[in-house]
Amino acid sequence: MPPTDPIAAVTHADPYPYYAALARERPLYHDDTLNLWVASSPQAITQVLAHPAARVRPPAEPVPRGLCPGPAGALFGRYVRMNDSAEHARLKTLLRAYIDSQPAPDLDGAWPLPRIDAAGVDRYLTLAPVYAQAAFMGLPPDVHGACATDIADFIAALPATADAARIERAHRAAERLQARMLAYLHAPQAGETLRRLQQDCAQAGIGMDLLAANLAGLLFQSCEAGAALLGNALVLAGRRGLRQAPPPDAARELVAETLRIDPPIHNTRRFLADEITVDGQRIPAGQTVLLVLAAAALAQPDTPWTFGALGHACPGQDLARRHAAGALAHLLRAGADAPALAASHRYRPLPNARLPLFDCAKDAHP
Ligand code: HEM
Repeated sequence: MPPTDPIAAVTHADPYPYYAALARERPLYHDDTLNLWVASSPQAITQVLAHPAARVRPPAEPVPRGLCPGPAGALFGRYVRMNDSAEHARLKTLLRAYIDSQPAPDLDGAWPLPRIDAAGVDRYLTLAPVYAQAAFMGLPPDVHGACATDIADFIAALPATADAARIERAHRAAERLQARMLAYLHAPQAGETLRRLQQDCAQAGIGMDLLAANLAGLLFQSCEAGAALLGNALVLAGRRGLRQAPPPDAARELVAETLRIDPPIHNTRRFLADEITVDGQRIPAGQTVLLVLAAAALAQPDTPWTFGALGHACPGQDLARRHAAGALAHLLRAGADAPALAASHRYRPLPNARLPLFDCAKDAHP
């Protein structure tokens, strides 16, 4: 059975024929069941992304209500990913320059110790990308684990269904993340590129609180998408019968192929502050447009749509590829049985990320 709609497609065993037909036959339509506009062709998605009225957050709810008031809401509202302010563009440019100039560390000792049973692998998928990102940023190894669990606690409170206990944990995690990043900005061991980033931010009138929040934002952005890329690469390795850790080049090629044929992020959204016209079709203010990146990628296989495009495009693409390749090799070296894992998995019920779940007996929520 093909998926019933683009959200169901994210967790479908093989959604790609459906996506190809969607981009070809219904590049822009209103889905009455989801109550969303759906854009799936490269042209329609590009028009939406380029429109100044198409915002990354609903104008009436810049931060999810459940997180307000409190430290988790304050952190969320500061992320460049989550706002279209003039500061966004300035800070995004500086963050990108930092990411591009920070020397890549040796990640050999940077990984969490994997347990290779299904539940252990599920946990490793979400921990490893944050450990790698923390190592990349030069954070001391003794805080990598705390960063990863704090990010997990923060993410767990984002769904509107999160209960009071989850939200409280997210507030405490956000406090710790913000304090840790601020302390690191002032620490003697912060490296040359981070110092330059601080100076550039000071010159651009960007405060240290905002910068610290966005360093936590880099950890946050790497987590779910990184887990999904690593998980899908593991599934592909398993389908290929890979039982040994591949050499670095082969691991990178496997990750590149995963990005092409089973990408980690399938959707993103835009919220209309004003009426817009796309492909001659008027879409009223207040509507939400689902941008099916995975469908655009089938129409344009050489464009890495899974990393977004234009103003909010992902600045972490190269890191994501490198970290997934390293994490996969480490997991296979530890003895994970990729063919057995690939033979029995489903997907977490997430709206945007295609993230395998190998411990099928478990609650599917992260
Ligand atoms: C497989 C891994 C990753 C995927 C598939 C991915 C995908 C994406 C996508 C689709 C967006 C744009 C969202 C939108 O426009 O609505 C985005 C934004 C972003 N990503 Fe990534 N990402 C990944 C890893 C990373 C990593 C490792 C970092 C850390 C450096 C990172 C940092 C960011 C940031 C800061 C933004 C916000 C940019 C902005 O709003 O201007 N991402 N990512």
